Order: sequence, then C-alpha cells, then structure tokens
Amino acid sequence: MPAAVLISGGGTNLQAFIDAVGDGSLALDLRVVLSNEAGAFGLDRARRAGIETRVIEHRGFPSREAFDTALVETLETFQPGLIILAGFMRILTPVFIDAFVGRIMNIHPSLLPKYPGLHTHQRAIDAGDAWAGSTVHFATAELDGGPRIIQGRIPVLTADSAESLAARVLAVEHRIYPEAARLFAAGRLVYRDGRAWLDGNVLDEPLQYC
Ligand code: GRF
Repeated sequence: MPAAVLISGGGTNLQAFIDAVGDGSLALDLRVVLSNEAGAFGLDRARRAGIETRVIEHRGFPSREAFDTALVETLETFQPGLIILAGFMRILTPVFIDAFVGRIMNIHPSLLPKYPGLHTHQRAIDAGDAWAGSTVHFATAELDGGPRIIQGRIPVLTADSAESLAARVLAVEHRIYPEAARLFAAGRLVYRDGRAWLDGNVLDEPLQYC
C-alpha cells in the first residue's frame, strides 16, 4: 500500500516505520515524507532511507486552507492509500481531511480522550494519573478527536518528569503505530461512517498494547 508520512520534527516514529518496512514486517510503500519545517531531522532519516522528501513551509501561506490545498496537491501526485501523521504539528482543516478521509492516521501522546492538544505528559503528571500512554486514531476535522484504533499505556512513576515520561511513551509509540498501519494495510482495519472497524466490527474501544 502506498503511504505518505507527514512530520515536523525528529521523526522517531517515521524511523519506526522505515525500520518495520525494512525488516519486512510492514507492507507499506513509503513514497514520500513531507515536512512543514525545512530543518526537520526526520527529513534526513527519509533521505538516508532513499525516500522522496518534500518541504512545504506553512509560513508562506495566507491561511490554513491555502496551506492544506498545497499539501493535498503535492500528496495526490503520490496517490497514497494511507497518510501517516507522525509528529506533524499543524492543525489540519476539512480541506485536507475531506481529500483523504478514512486514510489519515495520527498518533497523540496521551490516552485519548484524555488530554487532546499540547503538554500531555505534564498534564498527566499534574493530575496525578497512574497511567499515561499514546493513542493512534483516524484523523478527522476534530483535533485529536477521530475514532481510536490502538493505545499503549505505561505507569507514571513517582519520579517522572514530563521529559522522562515522554521518552517512555515514545518507545510505546514505535510499537503501536506500525501495528495500526499493519492492520490497515492488510485491509482488516477501515474507517467508515465516522467509526473505526476491525474485521467487520465497530471498534468501540481501542485495542490495548501492553
Ligand atoms: C510524538 O510524541 C507524537 O505522539 C506526537 O509528536 C511526537 C513525534 O515524535 N504527535 P517523533 O518526531 O516521531 O520523534
């Protein structure tokens, strides 16, 4: 299945995809890595892996919709069956979502529906949560709000800072995100009528990865 990965930064999740495709455990054709930041280290990871890269800097556009239109035009030339948002730090409008509805996945570093938006780890620590984690979901126009696919959870330790928690959550992300893509590429996971379906059944609760 042809796929595109959108990044803004370091790209460790992108690296997890590159590695899974490389070792034959994930049947994706990573056709392009697109970043809104020219300096994103993830672009180097893509180049090293021989994947085409594109940079579309959001700053040059008058509106989110104009930026999204440029993203759509570029991505359509690669005909992606799956679009993987991997640390892509832009809010996407319906211009983008509607062009690829049902084919866009995002990963968010919290146990959604808890803590959409930013600073998720600090918010979990401040709330005294026993568990933190990450969620892969289909992207919709609602920020971090689309149907959930899989979650990985880890205990919050007394000594945790936002940084230490983030590092452990990231390691979980590298397992659950390729797993979600594996199910999608195999045709077992689909998005229909605003919901996620696995093997023909509505996925009311996300899969749990421990
Ligand atoms: C991850 O924590 C992901 O959940 C969030 O952005 C971060 C991306 O990290 N959306 P990386 O660039 O993949 O290392």
